[in-house]
Amino acid sequence: MKEAQIIPLDKFVENALYNENYGYYSKKNPFGKSGDYVTAPNISFLFSEMIAIWIISYWENLQKPKKFNIVELGPGNGDLCKVLIKTFKNFPDFYKNVKIFLYERSKYLQKIQKNKIKEKKVSWLKNINDIKSGPVLFFGNEFFDAIPIKQFKIDKNKIYEKYLSVNKKDKIKIILKKAKKKTIFKLKKFGLFNNKGVIEYPDLGIKELDKMIQVIRKFNGGILLIDYGFLDKKNVSTLQSVKSHKKNEVFENLSDADITSLVNFTLLKDYFLKQNFNLNQVVSQSFFLKRIGILHRAEMLSKKMSFSAKANLYSRLRRLLDSRYMGNLFKVIFAYKNKKKFRLGFN
Ligand SMILES: C[S@@+](CC[C@H](N)C(=O)[O-])C[C@H]1O[C@@H](n2cnc3c(N)ncnc32)[C@H](O)[C@@H]1O
Repeated sequence: MKEAQIIPLDKFVENALYNENYGYYSKKNPFGKSGDYVTAPNISFLFSEMIAIWIISYWENLQKPKKFNIVELGPGNGDLCKVLIKTFKNFPDFYKNVKIFLYERSKYLQKIQKNKIKEKKVSWLKNINDIKSGPVLFFGNEFFDAIPIKQFKIDKNKIYEKYLSVNKKDKIKIILKKAKKKTIFKLKKFGLFNNKGVIEYPDLGIKELDKMIQVIRKFNGGILLIDYGFLDKKNVSTLQSVKSHKKNEVFENLSDADITSLVNFTLLKDYFLKQNFNLNQVVSQSFFLKRIGILHRAEMLSKKMSFSAKANLYSRLRRLLDSRYMGNLFKVIFAYKNKKKFRLGFN
C-alpha cells in the first residue's frame, strides 16, 4: 500500500494556494463581493492614491533619478496599479522616468491584470533578479501574509516542525517531526525560542525578501510592506482561512478557500536591521495614510460630491482607518538602503 505523503506545513499550504493546476489562486478571482475577501485597494481608490503620492515623494527623496523601477509585489486584481498609473500621469516628470513591474505568481491573476492594465510602461517580472538597473522600490499590499509559513513546537527542550500527512482518502493528519538543524539555526537567529506555544517562521517569505535585498544592495532602493500583523509575540497559531467573506476551518475547502497568517512585524524589523538597512518605525495603516494626507484628499474631493457619494466615500474611508476595521491591525514597514532618511507616513 502506498504510504501517506508527509509535507511541511508551508509547502502543503503553498500547494493548496498556488499549484498551477488546482491551487486556489490558479482558478479563482478571490477579490470583491462575489469572491472571498476584499483588500484596501478594492475598498477605496484613496488608499492607492496615497501609495502613489508616497512613491513619488520617495523618488524625489532619491533626487529624482532618470531611471526608477517600481515593483508591485502580488498585485492581485490590479486595482492598486490601475490607480497608481492614473495618479502618476498627473506628475509627468515622474511618469516619464518610472518603469513599473508586476511580480505575480498566479498565472490566472496575471491574466486579469493584463486585461486591466495595458500601459507600455508596465511589464510582468518572472524573477526578482531580472531587475537589471535601479534604484528599485519594491512594495506590496497583503503580499507577505499570502506566503505560507512554517510552524514549530517545543516539547521537553526539543524542537518539532509541523507537517501534514495526507492519506489515500485525502484525510489530513497533523504530524510533528524533529526540526532540521538548518531550520533551528534560522529560528535561533530571530530569538524565536522564547515562545512558549506555537512558533511561526516565514521561511518562504524571507527567501523572497532575500532576493529583493540583493537587488537593492546592487542598485539602491527600498521595500515597503503593508499587511495585517502584530508586533508583540503571539505564541499561538495565526493561520486563518476565509471563504465567501466568512471564516473557514484552515484545512477545510482546500484550494477553494484562502489561507493566510498574521505577519510578525518584529521579526521583519529584526530581519531588515540584520541586513543593515535603514528602518522607519512600524506604524499602523491608519497613521500612515493620515500622515500622507488621506483626510485632506477626501475633504477636497467630497466638496463637489452629492450627499450619497460623500457618504459612500467616508464609509469606505472608515473601513481603512478605524481601529475596529483595518486601521490598527494593518501595519506598514519601510526598509531602505539610501542614505538620506525618508520618513513620509512614518513620523
Ligand atoms: C492577498 S492577495 C493581495 C492582492 C493585492 N496586493 C491587493 O492588495 O488587493 C496576495 C497576492 O500576492 C500574490 N502572491 C503570493 N505569493 C506570491 C509570490 N511568492 N510571488 C508573487 N506573487 C505572490 C498572490 O497571487 C496575490 O496576487
